[in-house]
Amino acid sequence: MAKDKNKKSSGEMMASFKEFIWNPRTREFLGRTASSWGLILLFYLVFYVALAGLFALTMYVMLQTLDDYKPTYQDRLAIPGLMIRPKLEALEIVYSIEDTESWDVYVQALDEFLAPYNNSQQVMTNYECLPDRYFVQEDSGEVRNNPKRSCQFNRTMLEDCSGLDDRYYGYLDGKPCVLIKLNRVIGMLPGKDGQSPFVSCGAKREDSDKIGELMYFPPNGTLNLMYYPYYGKKAQVNYSQPLVAVKFLNVTVNEDINVECKINADNVETTGNERDKFAGRVSFRLRINKRE
Ligand SMILES: *[C@@H]1O[C@H](CO)[C@@H](O)[C@H](O)[C@H]1NC(C)=O
Ligand SMILES: *[C@@H]1O[C@H](CO)[C@@H](O)[C@H](O)[C@H]1NC(C)=O
Ligand SMILES: *[C@@H]1O[C@H](CO)[C@@H](O)[C@H](O)[C@H]1NC(C)=O
Ligand SMILES: *[C@@H]1O[C@H](CO)[C@@H](O)[C@H](O)[C@H]1NC(C)=O
Ligand SMILES: *[C@@H]1O[C@H](CO)[C@@H](O)[C@H](O)[C@H]1NC(C)=O
Repeated sequence: MAKDKNKKSSGEMMASFKEFIWNPRTREFLGRTASSWGLILLFYLVFYVALAGLFALTMYVMLQTLDDYKPTYQDRLAIPGLMIRPKLEALEIVYSIEDTESWDVYVQALDEFLAPYNNSQQVMTNYECLPDRYFVQEDSGEVRNNPKRSCQFNRTMLEDCSGLDDRYYGYLDGKPCVLIKLNRVIGMLPGKDGQSPFVSCGAKREDSDKIGELMYFPPNGTLNLMYYPYYGKKAQVNYSQPLVAVKFLNVTVNEDINVECKINADNVETTGNERDKFAGRVSFRLRINKRE
């Protein structure tokens, strides 16, 4: 039958497969002679070595143009973000006054964050600068003026929120402190015409009657000009970011309050930015539970 003719026996198929792997007559392996395989391997070897060489050369040339002390390209120069401390997983501060453990985590986070701001620590590592003016430390031409000095930000400047007089930062009294910091941007000069930038906080509209009175430390929520410009981790090793503490004096308990803090500086954009609507601002949820 025609059907049987086309159908090779399994023995025949095995034999032709074996011959494909290694054909002793033509001395071919997988259908190619040794020299053919050799040429193919040689081609790929040369090809990949050339590719690797090109990559290494490009990398080398690029690294030559990089400066250890400042970024070659830096995005978002005019619009740094804000961040809060304490910050656990989420941007929220939620605790119950009666449940010590629920707020102790915040107190511990603040203790840890503020340890390098201890006056003794600041006096050891940083300088007392002239306030209300930028602390510019120019390189003179090619000669680098590194490392650069940094200004003291004493923990005591946070007064009621320093954790020194009230070591619970107000959490126990239902008057918690939240620290605001402006993310570091190398070379940024926030503020304008001798006016220091300042931080202000408020509630989202529907919560405005629940947020109560706020108090800022240092006074007016100022980020003094002397802490700018920042020259980068490598050039300015001891830099302490300036902070603003906000103390919530009379929040309505057992209610969610959506708080938004923003930086106010003529030259730091905070509104209507299409690329980054969090530029220059931070929002978080505040809720203090208290048994009636
Ligand atoms: C900072 O000061 C606090 C309170 O005086 C103290 O408990 C803490 O050990 C100090 N931390 C450092 C790193 O000096
Ligand atoms: C920081 O504190 C130290 C010691 O308490 C003090 O000598 C220094 O003047 C303070 N610096 C600033 C900038 O207030
Ligand atoms: C940084 O702090 C160390 C002490 O921890 C000090 O010896 C050094 O001079 C400081 N560097 C600058 C640039 O201020
Ligand atoms: C805070 O702001 C008010 C009004 O803008 C001003 O009169 C006062 O001098 C400022 N206080 C400080 C310490 O900058
Ligand atoms: C605290 O806020 C409540 C309203 O939420 C208000 O009735 C009360 O007078 C405020 N207390 C102080 C001391 O401002």
